[in-house]
Amino acid sequence: MRTQIVVIGGGPSGLLLGQLLHRAGIDAVVLERKTRDYVLGRIRAGVLETGLVKLMEEAGVADRLHAEGFVHDGTQIAVGDQMFHVDFKALTGTPVIVYGQTEVTRDLYDAREAAGAPTIFEVEDVVIHDADGDHPHVTFTRHGHAQRIDCDFVAGCDGFHGVSRQAIPLDVRREYEKIYPFGWLGVLSETPPVHDELIYANSDRGFALCSMRNENLSRYYIQCALSESTSDWSDDAFWQELRRRIPSDVAERLVTGPTIEKSIAPLRSFVTEPMRWGRLFLVGDAAHIVPPTGAKGLNTAASDVHYLFEGLRQFYADGDSEDIDRYSEKALLRVWKAERFSWWFSSLLHVYPHMSPFDLKMQQAEIAFLRDNDAQQRAFAENYVGLPY
Ligand code: FAD
Ligand code: DHB
Repeated sequence: MRTQIVVIGGGPSGLLLGQLLHRAGIDAVVLERKTRDYVLGRIRAGVLETGLVKLMEEAGVADRLHAEGFVHDGTQIAVGDQMFHVDFKALTGTPVIVYGQTEVTRDLYDAREAAGAPTIFEVEDVVIHDADGDHPHVTFTRHGHAQRIDCDFVAGCDGFHGVSRQAIPLDVRREYEKIYPFGWLGVLSETPPVHDELIYANSDRGFALCSMRNENLSRYYIQCALSESTSDWSDDAFWQELRRRIPSDVAERLVTGPTIEKSIAPLRSFVTEPMRWGRLFLVGDAAHIVPPTGAKGLNTAASDVHYLFEGLRQFYADGDSEDIDRYSEKALLRVWKAERFSWWFSSLLHVYPHMSPFDLKMQQAEIAFLRDNDAQQRAFAENYVGLPY
C-alpha cells in the first residue's frame, strides 16, 4: 500500500491532522493500536482554546462543539475560603470552550468515517523505516498479518508511550523532564456542576479542581499521593475530601452522587527536541507532556497539528519545504511557553512535600499578586485562553 502521510496514532492529534489533510486533498492513513471504543472511553481534557476550535472548524467538525460546548468567559481561583474571578473575555477578548476530549475525538472519528478516509485499528509492532531517507515506510501487524505502507512523510501522533519518539536516534534526541511528587485523582459524576465556571482551588490539604462536561455531568479532581490507587478512594471519601478543599459556601452547594469513572494521573513535564527527524514529525503527547493544571495538553497538541498541517499543505501545493523545515522550531517555541505556564500554575496551587514556611508564604504572595494585579491577571488570561499560533 502507498499513501502520502502515515499518521501513527488515532488520538486527537492524529485524527485532527488526518481530517485537515483530507480536506486539503492530501491522502493519509491513520494507524491506531486500540479499538475506536477504547480510544473513546478515555476521559481526559475538557477545556478547548479558540485556536483548537478554529482548527475544528477548518476540519469541518465544529457543529456539535458549537451547539453543545459551554463558552466560559473566565475562571474562578479559590484559596482556602476565598475565591476570585479572572475574566478572560474582558482581559483578552477571548473565552475558552468547555467540551470534552472524548467528544472532540468522537466528532473526528465520525467525520473520518463519513469521508471514507482509512483508519486501521488494532495495529501492533509498528516500525518506522528510513525516516532519514527520501522513501520512508511503516510496517506493522494486524491480527497476525504483516503489512507495509510506503509514504512521503510519517506523523508520529502516538502519545507519550508510542514508538515514534523512540525512532529518533538517541544521539539526535534531547529530553527534558520533571516528575511531580503527586498525582490527580479524577472522577466523573452525573450531577450538576457546582459552579458555572471552573474552580481551581488551593487549600492546605492540596489542590482541587471543579470542572464539568454538561449540565448534568461534572468532572472533579483532587491532588493525591502517587502511592494511592483508586481503590483507596470510596465515592464518599472523595466527596468529603473535595468539600474540605473548596470554599465552604461552594462545598455546601456541591451535589454528590455515584461516580461513573475514577482514575489517577501522574503529573509530568516533558519535552523532546527536535520534533522532526528527516521525514518523521512528532506531534502532541509523542513530543511533550504538561501537568494538567491549566488544560494545555490537548491544546498544545493542536498547535503542533496547525504548524505541521500548514507545512505539509505548502509542500504539496508548491514544493516549498520551508515550513516543514521550520516545524520543530516553530512548534517548540510555543510548546515551551505552554510548559512554563503549566509548571507555574501547578506550582501556584499544589501542596508540595517538604514545603518550608517560606515556600508557603511565596505561594500565598504569588496568588495574592494574581488576585490584585491587572498585568498579572492579563498574563494569566493570555496563557490560559492560548497564546497565538
Ligand atoms: P494521545 O491522546 O495519547 O493519543 C495517542 C494515540 O496513539 C492513542 O490513541 C494510542 O492508543 C495510540 N498509539 C500509541 N502507541 C501506538 C502505536 N505504537 N501504534 C499506533 N497507535 C499508537 N490534558 C488536559 O488538557 N486536561 C486533562 O485533564 C488531561 N488529563 C489527562 C489524563 C491522562 C491520563 C492523560 C494520559 C492525559 C491527559 N491530558 C489532559 C492530556 C491530553 O489528554 C493529551 O495532551 C492529549 O490526549 C494528546 O493527544 P495526542 O493525540 O497527542 O495523544
Ligand atoms: C479539565 C482538566 C484540566 O486539566 C483543566 O485544567 C481543566 C479542566 C477537565 O477535565 O475538565
